[in-house]
Amino acid sequence: MNLYDRIPNNVNLSEDKKLQRALEKWLPNYLDWWREMGPEGFQEKDVWLRTAVDVGSEGWAHFDYVKMPDYRWGIFLEPPQPDAKVGFGDNYGRPAYQEVPGEFRNALRRIIVTQGDTEPASVEQQRQLGKTCPSLYDLRNLFQVNVEEGRHLWAMVYLLHGYFGRDGRDEADELLERRSGNPDKPRILEAFNQPCDDWLNFFAFTMFTDRDGKYQLSALAESGFEPLARTCQFMLTEEAHHMFVGDTGLGRVCRRTAQLMKKGDVRELGGIPLEIIQKYINFWFSYSLDLFGGEISSNSADFFAAGLKGRYKERDQYTDHSATNENFTMTIVEDGQLKTREVPLRNALNEVLRGEYVKDCEKGLARWNRVLAEEGASERLFLPHPRFHRHVGEFAGHTFDLQGNLISREEFESRKSEWLPTMEDREYVRSLMHPVFEIGKIANWIAPPAAGIKGKPFDYEYVRL
Ligand SMILES: [Fe+2]
Ligand SMILES: [Fe+2]
Repeated sequence: MNLYDRIPNNVNLSEDKKLQRALEKWLPNYLDWWREMGPEGFQEKDVWLRTAVDVGSEGWAHFDYVKMPDYRWGIFLEPPQPDAKVGFGDNYGRPAYQEVPGEFRNALRRIIVTQGDTEPASVEQQRQLGKTCPSLYDLRNLFQVNVEEGRHLWAMVYLLHGYFGRDGRDEADELLERRSGNPDKPRILEAFNQPCDDWLNFFAFTMFTDRDGKYQLSALAESGFEPLARTCQFMLTEEAHHMFVGDTGLGRVCRRTAQLMKKGDVRELGGIPLEIIQKYINFWFSYSLDLFGGEISSNSADFFAAGLKGRYKERDQYTDHSATNENFTMTIVEDGQLKTREVPLRNALNEVLRGEYVKDCEKGLARWNRVLAEEGASERLFLPHPRFHRHVGEFAGHTFDLQGNLISREEFESRKSEWLPTMEDREYVRSLMHPVFEIGKIANWIAPPAAGIKGKPFDYEYVRL
């Protein structure tokens, strides 16, 4: 482990001088980006952060006070498996690729760039949130997520620099040039151009959009391109915390709302009404579903055939790793009606992955509904139908209600303020966002967490202001 190198890493960077030089050239540009686009107003503060110092199950995370720009951004891959094999597709059982297979070079670069682009994008989306944190505990969690997304960018840039030569270096530069929400040079995926300017958005984003990341990374962690698989496997260990932040964050908002419902009108009492929480769920869930790509996709078939992108838990969950003889039944829109169609399974793999994601999200909804029940509320939250409010794939260009019924555009337009956050909803939520910087205190619209971080109490000085 070369932890105290300029770029901490476990890939023997010092033995590859060319790669090391390229990354050392990228480093100051990265730091400039971080200072310009990272969390605003807190760069010089000590934050009690987890830093990856090892990928082993023991002690891969080291907790201490760190100023964010001094965070040990590094390159950590899971150790190589001796005799790693391609785990699926047409090359199933052959030795894993240590270099990029020539015919898939462009496609693979695109996958890595698209994944890489989401990492700095989310930091940009969240850069103002610190100023309205509901507690020091939440402030610390926000910054933990931010620095790890920064490190994930490093992970993807390592692959671009290490395996794609000059094009890879150019792509790495462009990852620092695009900006979330900027009309002239936007981030690649739409969910990453949406504003994330209040904490309800932040929790919904880390619950639903980071969870898309979990499924994309899981599919890539199965990859026959070994450096990509090993990179993604390690990123997943960090992502788990991001989803925890979103899942428990929304759970805590639900708890507080239900508590306020017992006392009177939630709005008058300064809480977030359940209808607004539901609308935020509808918004972020639907945008996150788009991230899986089209329902019917020849790219997904090609990537699977090549052994580059597998299914979720491909090795553990399936016995037939060729997926050639099966069909998948899906619903599509044809002549203005919903119809079912049989599609070769390999062409339906985006939809298969999306299905795994939806099941996982449902568990989150069940947890929040348990919180509502515990607090004596009879109302329940739900996921909208996956056809609702889609901008990518078979259902883009059509309009559906929350139950997935095809409806006219006029009806959608006239009812969308019931289903999606309105300007007024967003302004109301923003009006509640006042910072709480006192140790052990918490904002009125959210309940405290069940426990602190890493054995520390809630009233720990997670950020020294
Ligand atoms: Fe990430
Ligand atoms: Fe994340």
